[in-house]
Amino acid sequence: MISFFNGKTLSDRSISFRIVNSRFSEVKIEPSTINQVSEANSLESLASLLSREDKAVTMGQKDIAYDLSGYLVLPAGIDAHVHSRSPGLEHKEDWHSLAQSAYKGGVTSVADMPNTVPPMLFSEQIEAKKALAKASGLGFKLYLGVGDKNVQQLPHLLKKYPDFLAGLKVFYGKSTGDLIYSDLEMLHRSLGEHVDPIITFHAEDQKIIDEMTQRYRDHLNDSEFGTFKYHSFMRPTLAANQACQYILAWGLKTGRRLHIAHISTPDEVELITQYQQKGLRVSCEIAPHHLLLSDENYEELGPFLKVNPPVRSMADVKKMREHFAAGRIDIFATDHAPHLKEEKLKPLNQAPSGMPAIEFFYPLLLQSALTTGLSLEHASKMGSAVPARLFGYVERGEIRNGFFADFVIMKKLRGRVGENMLSTSKCGWSPYHNLSLDYQVVATFHDGRLRYANPKFCASLPEGPGQI
Ligand code: DOR
Ligand code: ZN
Repeated sequence: MISFFNGKTLSDRSISFRIVNSRFSEVKIEPSTINQVSEANSLESLASLLSREDKAVTMGQKDIAYDLSGYLVLPAGIDAHVHSRSPGLEHKEDWHSLAQSAYKGGVTSVADMPNTVPPMLFSEQIEAKKALAKASGLGFKLYLGVGDKNVQQLPHLLKKYPDFLAGLKVFYGKSTGDLIYSDLEMLHRSLGEHVDPIITFHAEDQKIIDEMTQRYRDHLNDSEFGTFKYHSFMRPTLAANQACQYILAWGLKTGRRLHIAHISTPDEVELITQYQQKGLRVSCEIAPHHLLLSDENYEELGPFLKVNPPVRSMADVKKMREHFAAGRIDIFATDHAPHLKEEKLKPLNQAPSGMPAIEFFYPLLLQSALTTGLSLEHASKMGSAVPARLFGYVERGEIRNGFFADFVIMKKLRGRVGENMLSTSKCGWSPYHNLSLDYQVVATFHDGRLRYANPKFCASLPEGPGQI
């Protein structure tokens, strides 16, 4: 049994708890400090905790108490939108490297997208991916893709795997891989009345994308970084808005439960809010690149900024920040989608879309809150309790008696994202390189076990800003 005390919550209250059999017990959140001890004491106990070699400070050992004064203690992240790349694309990422990056970013559970190779459409692929995911130790749920080939089998598959399917994923517009599905009437008929999965949409209208791509065809073979701005023109806000409108109208007519992935336009937020008021069960998600980056970054990042849906104008980003600050967006998820540098360094029409981010999940989440003015507490819930509830991570996402002990220790300490710290991810680059972040992950616990310890915090705190 171990206990933690004197940590701070985001509203500056003190938190203490014990961990018994992988779960929280005796959680106390109090307005004042629970136990006054000196900072030196807390650093010492933290350093001893972080330098433990077995990284398994769990039951069966003698009672140990760790003092966390000076540190923030938050529920660990649940990143509900990641691309594990495995099976099939292990040169970009695999479940082991994903787990390392996730723990480094303060994440203990993910929901994985179906565009692996082969795509996740049938039992065979579900079983294969489940085995890979399980071996990594990371908490996971898997999305089942929707395609012409499996649409009739969806009710059977959903019933067969009730515990670890996050829901259905519909690529209404095409992105990385070949998955695309737009026959929503057929989807509704096939699902029938007795299954009610959450249906997550990549909402971009393929017809509009095809038309706009034709318009910019003269640039398709260019590889100048500045040329990549045409990616945002080829997948305009209209493509997202029109798809979103159609999907929401379908949802209202059919009563289905929807989730719109990676919203990127202010109109999408407004549409979703309107449909929520009409009674539609719809939630939405935002990725850090749609809050912290814009089309002004193409000159510097070129293909490394190419992502679907694309980054938008600064005017749109500012409006998205207002919506974020007003609490109109349900969850924060990274859309972690790594590709190798050499794959990215191709001409506009060949460079794959997507960027890694999970290794900075919590620092980016709290930075998004600081940038927009949303409270840190609300932001933290958008990356933990809310995705847990939406996607069914039972007894996770909160520091609560009886819940699994998934938590992250953070420190307010400004640092820049640096080259040498991108080593957990197989792709080794980040669009956030050089970005200054105000919070750093010190340690991540999953099921009560220490899974990541930031080496920088082992002995003592560094003076001034460091590299993240
Ligand atoms: O940019 C993207 N990359 N958007 C997606 O929808 C898929 C992802 C990927 O898998 O690379
Ligand atoms: Zn994605």
